Amino acid sequence: MHNNKTNTVRNTKLDAVSKSLKQSIKNLDSYTHVRGESLYVDDVNIRQGTFHAVVFDSPKAHGKIKHIDYSKAEALEGVERIFTYKDVPGENEIGGIIADEPLFAEDEVHFWGMPIALIVAESEFIARKARGLIEIGIEDLPVITTAKEAKAKGSFINAPRSFSLGDTEKAFADCDYVFEGETFSNGQEHLYIEAQGAYAEPMENGNIKITSSTQGPTAVQATTARVLGIAMHKIEVDVTRLGGGFGGKEDQATPWAVMAALATYHLNQSVKLILNRHDDLRMTGKRHPYESTYKIGLSKDLKILAYQTEFLQNSGAAADLSPAIAERTLFHATNSYYVPNVTTKVLSCKTNLPPNTAFRGFGGPQGMFVIESAIAKAASEIGVSARQIQEANLLDENDTFSYGQIAKKVEAKNTWHSAKNIFNSDALEQEVADFNKNNTAFKKGLSFMPITFGISFTNTPMNHARALVHIYLDGSVGISTAAVEMGQGVNTKMMQIAADVFSIPIDKIKIETTNTTRVANTSPSAASSTADLNGKATLMACNALVERLKLVASEDLNVSEKDITLKDESVFINDKPSELSWTQLISSAMLKRVALTENAHYATPEIHFDKTKEKGHPFAYHVYGTAITTVTVDCTRGTYEFDSVKIVHDYGKSMSKGIDLGQVEGALIQGIGWMTLEEIAYNDDGRLLSNALSTYKVPDIFSVPKRVEVIPVETEGNDMAILKSKAVGEPPLMYGIGAYFALQNAIKTFNSNYDLEFHAPMTPEKVLMGLYENKK
Ligand code: MTE
Ligand code: HPA
Ligand code: MOS
Repeated sequence: MHNNKTNTVRNTKLDAVSKSLKQSIKNLDSYTHVRGESLYVDDVNIRQGTFHAVVFDSPKAHGKIKHIDYSKAEALEGVERIFTYKDVPGENEIGGIIADEPLFAEDEVHFWGMPIALIVAESEFIARKARGLIEIGIEDLPVITTAKEAKAKGSFINAPRSFSLGDTEKAFADCDYVFEGETFSNGQEHLYIEAQGAYAEPMENGNIKITSSTQGPTAVQATTARVLGIAMHKIEVDVTRLGGGFGGKEDQATPWAVMAALATYHLNQSVKLILNRHDDLRMTGKRHPYESTYKIGLSKDLKILAYQTEFLQNSGAAADLSPAIAERTLFHATNSYYVPNVTTKVLSCKTNLPPNTAFRGFGGPQGMFVIESAIAKAASEIGVSARQIQEANLLDENDTFSYGQIAKKVEAKNTWHSAKNIFNSDALEQEVADFNKNNTAFKKGLSFMPITFGISFTNTPMNHARALVHIYLDGSVGISTAAVEMGQGVNTKMMQIAADVFSIPIDKIKIETTNTTRVANTSPSAASSTADLNGKATLMACNALVERLKLVASEDLNVSEKDITLKDESVFINDKPSELSWTQLISSAMLKRVALTENAHYATPEIHFDKTKEKGHPFAYHVYGTAITTVTVDCTRGTYEFDSVKIVHDYGKSMSKGIDLGQVEGALIQGIGWMTLEEIAYNDDGRLLSNALSTYKVPDIFSVPKRVEVIPVETEGNDMAILKSKAVGEPPLMYGIGAYFALQNAIKTFNSNYDLEFHAPMTPEKVLMGLYENKK
């Protein structure tokens, strides 16, 4: 089978073009987006008398609060009330995995930007003005900003985790080459276009409705109930869509919603709390910076025999999702390679930064950067190209991951060799070499970046979802799930599923808001699994309805239900249309008092993981791919431009080609941004220096590679994926890691004395320094 794969890819390249017009469906949100009609939290029609709130946060990264004087702020005309931890009727606690994070600081502050109070006023302007009138005295305590420092001081979030396979120590002794080194990868700001925010309204009997920009409506509901000390059923959380989340709203949308609800609880009035960009940048956590050490051992024929790492995760001042993210770093520490002897360890280091949180890839990218660095180092020392080491170690069918899962339906070699063939990488490398021979002021670099990413929440119990499907008496359909639309197109995919099963047009289907009263106890929309989990539940609900409707039709038409199918808005008998239309069928079902509503529950089968042994089968399946990146560096200025990123990506059987391509392109650019441009900076006092878009550079149209090509390696797909269409949200971000190594290769060509450093992002300043460091 494998021998034919390359051909399959070649053919589907043409297929993809010819079929794309028919098959690709636009993200259905694009219509309201371009007209400016899409609704976000800031667009809710606020009720009369609504108050506006602003958060008062810590102006120090670590210290004891000696005194706070709210009197001038409270006296300001239009200020209604200022809430602190003293006003919390339940628990002043919002930690999800570990109970270590207060909603409002009590007598100590642990990071710059830590919420201390909520100022509620007639307008946001007044609330902001009042914030400036609060006087606070803080006695400084020592500030830790780096993971290394935290480790030295024994400051940790939880106990370390470690995965191992084989006998690493013994294997190192047998290696022909052993190399050790250090790496650093910086954090990353989510920069969702819609900042964090929520709107809380009082309902009857002390019930509260919250409109939130969250990936996790249940997290908001449960935490609000905990803080207010009331039952969950008194809180309803509703989400229309997010203007981006990228993981930043998996956990960290919660505090703002809880604060708005707390004010509503006390004032019995609606309260709107939306962070402005500065407040959002300062108060929220980001991707975790990692400082890591590695040791890699190879044989003469370039097989990686042993690999060992210690990852220091800069978790920030509270756990948030750090333990789960640390775990995923271990899952992806060997990326697309089979390494028979592995020992990985991760320490979640407690520092005085805002608690860092989920960000597309969820710790996976940080783990992959380290092994790619180790390979680059080994290649440079041995005098081969990194590509040779990468190719010699690609994962194969039935290889074992360090966490015990056996790799199945592996596409690592297939995507790698397909990329080489389709994009003619030999010619590409020759082009780069020729260019470098003929140019002195400009140099090109090329890199390969394979990816392997596990799909499922690593925490097995989170892998479930439900769908509530109503067919209305006119034949139109309403679907509720836990899926939160954040730009990734999941609502469009849900509609496609229902349209496909019922065989009715998309305009007969509506995806309802994500609401905790319709679908309860949900996992967040995250882990790239939203379409898989909620889609499978939707599929089950729709199929159950179809079975019921077939019974109705078989009675009406007097034929066996086995002969009946639903097609083109009609009932078909043995593949021929009958006189019974979809709408007539629904009317008939109503008259027969057949239930036209179905609620289905899906829980991913087969997956399990035993944390006491650190072994199991945590992922439903893996997503594979390979990117080839080329860059041109201006060696006078240190600036650079990516010529192309050429990708062969494993979509399985994509159900929405346009949406999935958008996900690959978007994730790639976000990954390139993390690796090359985006530089989070805190000073030694723990104050965020990159606190505005003038000091924090994200990719813009000029940073996009001149050419991005994505070719699907269409395989038979995977039954664990929705309609065999593999999850696509996060994996392609890691193609961006290739950008770092392409740049490094260009620098090395210009300056043979350049001492390889693995310190991301590779900003133009760092490129310039690399070009001239020790240059002869
Ligand atoms: N795409 C857009 N446009 N906006 C987003 O916020 N989030 C990413 C990814 N793609 C995101 C996105 C992240 S972090 C995840 S986990 C997935 O989408 C979540 O959606 P999915 O599970 O439907 O892929
Ligand atoms: N990915 C994203 N979010 C999560 C995960 C995960 O694997 N586990 C818990 N929350
Ligand atoms: Mo994505 S980081 O799992 O929200």
